[in-house]
Amino acid sequence: MYKLFRRFLFLLPAEASHDLALFSLSIANKVGLLRPIQTNPDHTSVTVMGIKFPNKIGLAAGLDKNGKHIHALSKFGFGFVEVGTVTPLAQPGNPKPRLFRIPKARAIINRMGFNNHGIDNLIQNVNLAKDAGFDGILGINIGKNLITTVEDAVSDYLIGLRQAYFYADYITVNISSPNTPGLRSLQYGEELDHLLSRIKTEQMSLSLQFKKYVPIAIKVAPDLSDEEVKDVSATLLANNMDALIATNTTLSKKAVDDLNHGDEAGGLSGEPVRDMSTRVIAEFHKYLKDQIPIIGVGGIASAADAKAKLDAGAALVQVYSGLIYEGPGLIRRILKNID
Ligand SMILES: Cc1cc2nc3c(=O)[nH]c(=O)nc-3n(C[C@H](O)[C@H](O)[C@H](O)COP(=O)(O)O)c2cc1C
Repeated sequence: MYKLFRRFLFLLPAEASHDLALFSLSIANKVGLLRPIQTNPDHTSVTVMGIKFPNKIGLAAGLDKNGKHIHALSKFGFGFVEVGTVTPLAQPGNPKPRLFRIPKARAIINRMGFNNHGIDNLIQNVNLAKDAGFDGILGINIGKNLITTVEDAVSDYLIGLRQAYFYADYITVNISSPNTPGLRSLQYGEELDHLLSRIKTEQMSLSLQFKKYVPIAIKVAPDLSDEEVKDVSATLLANNMDALIATNTTLSKKAVDDLNHGDEAGGLSGEPVRDMSTRVIAEFHKYLKDQIPIIGVGGIASAADAKAKLDAGAALVQVYSGLIYEGPGLIRRILKNID
């Protein structure tokens, strides 16, 4: 069924088919055509960051940037859904076209540039999802506006943190999108340490204010060297971060440079990033061990791919590009075939 739908969707430009797929999904949900995939949490649940997840497979950030489809997407069987990246103010993102499929490599290049309707709108959508019956685990992924300088990025993250705190089960600080100039520089050295210490202080004060502790995950790129992984790990540990999400898209286009759209600017996801991100997870795991859990993401398109990330040290995994190529049945297939 999805294969037929995909054949039609792939005739359209990538972003138009993305919008149409999500629109069809919300209609199907509204008219009651989407029945939730039944899983048995007695067998699949796992506690990570102090949260009990019904299963280990989540939706990665970027597919539902405004949180408009949380309830419908949760019916695919995800153990958790991450929405965003959302910024304090609404912004249009980069000019179109900015999303490209590369089917021969089962890959995607995007340079969306944090197009989103702003955090207030996202919170309204989260409330609507909860009113509609969503009671799953929700991650809210926050970023900085394009007009905010990298030097002032901390203030945007603190706004995101304060606004999202009450509504999220966990919050992801995205410092690894390649499509916001300078953002990735926040992954290094003193800049990272400064950002994380400000975030930790704010988290502690919000936890007193709201009388609940919301864990914070830091999302990193797959393009980190072993030395950089070691440095980032030390900074995460020093600042008592709650989780690491590894990884975002890669800037390395070697795997696709001879294919149609393979030379587009932006971040590459899907199969070509799979082993890169698994390597980064394994490297991080050497330093973080059981102290900081890892959420593994990058190129998962089968149960074996998910298992490789879990074996490398991930406690949970997420998918995005695999869902585009394999369809929602992927989640059920993974759940059936992992422990
Ligand atoms: C079109 C597109 C948009 C994305 N937008 C975001 C985003 O806004 N924030 C984020 O943290 N990651 C974003 N990502 C990265 C994914 O969450 C994920 O980390 C990456 O694509 C690797 O996983 P995958 O190979 O399963 O897609 C985006 C990915 C794609 C393909």
